[in-house]
Amino acid sequence: MTKSTPLLTQRPRRLRRSEATRRLTQETWLRPEDFVYPLFVMEGKNSSEPIGSMPGQFRWTPDLLVRQAREAFDLGVPAVALFPKIDNSLKNSRATESTNREGLLPRTVTLLKENVPGLTVITDVAMDPYSSDGHDGLVENGEILNDPTLEILGQMALVQANAGADFVAPSDMMDGRVGFLRQVLDQAGHTEVGIISYSAKYASCFYGPFREALDSAPRAGDKKTYQMNPANQREAIREIKLDLAEGADLVMVKPALAYLDVIAQAKALSEVPVAAYNVSGEYAMIKAAAEKGWLNEKGAALESLLAIKRAGADVIFTYWALQAAKWLQ
Ligand code: PBG
Repeated sequence: MTKSTPLLTQRPRRLRRSEATRRLTQETWLRPEDFVYPLFVMEGKNSSEPIGSMPGQFRWTPDLLVRQAREAFDLGVPAVALFPKIDNSLKNSRATESTNREGLLPRTVTLLKENVPGLTVITDVAMDPYSSDGHDGLVENGEILNDPTLEILGQMALVQANAGADFVAPSDMMDGRVGFLRQVLDQAGHTEVGIISYSAKYASCFYGPFREALDSAPRAGDKKTYQMNPANQREAIREIKLDLAEGADLVMVKPALAYLDVIAQAKALSEVPVAAYNVSGEYAMIKAAAEKGWLNEKGAALESLLAIKRAGADVIFTYWALQAAKWLQ
């Protein structure tokens, strides 16, 4: 020891000296099992359309979607979440196509369950992809009605459960929907179909690319009377507690990256698994920067996903699910 060596009882750098020691002391690990792979489905056979603002993501016809889901499943990704692109001619203000048993979404669910039997299939319960107003609820004189929307969501969830969905995922932020859906499902004998609640879903600008993918943007107004104010954290706690009391099997925070504090809060108070949705805008930002050569995609994506998990997410919905599963092999 030279004279100039300070006496330090704590030298945290010892734990970072070698790759092996860093691995030994790593607190959080990403695994393919952490991911849910969101997939967009469109009518047709054997074709796909690239989504402009989400490079690497496509709208798939059901047959190709099955292939995509199987590839992810074989790499360890346990679940997919489905979002249908509905033809404009089928949209109306009551979103009636969402309760069509022969519709694109229920047919895709059934096909997936037949072809990839072990896969967990999650379906979105919300009116927007089917609504000519582009809102998640029924619109009357510019107002989004709560209780009449619940009736439609209930019918939608039943169609999805009948088609074979393992979990329905209400993403609409209407009050009371979790309890309502639980009751509707149970009364129909679907006691084993779970509910993943988008509990703290913020009125976020980061959903932009998703709305392009489905052509589902609100035709008038915004979603601020139902989705949450990005400024609020305690309100998220209230929403999560309500959903737990109403019987949610998982609770979700969405978006993820700008809301890591909310994810941590959710983890602290929830006794059910916490999901986080790494949304389309979060994906698009990194993709765009990587295309310009400004960021390394793999590094930025895996660091983001790790951060979401570190914050407390048990389950991560991410468009990188398949790619990340490959990176992690
Ligand atoms: C619709 C829904 C949205 C997303 C998932 N379900 C968009 C919205 O609320 O406008 C966004 C997903 C994403 O941006 O990746 N209920």
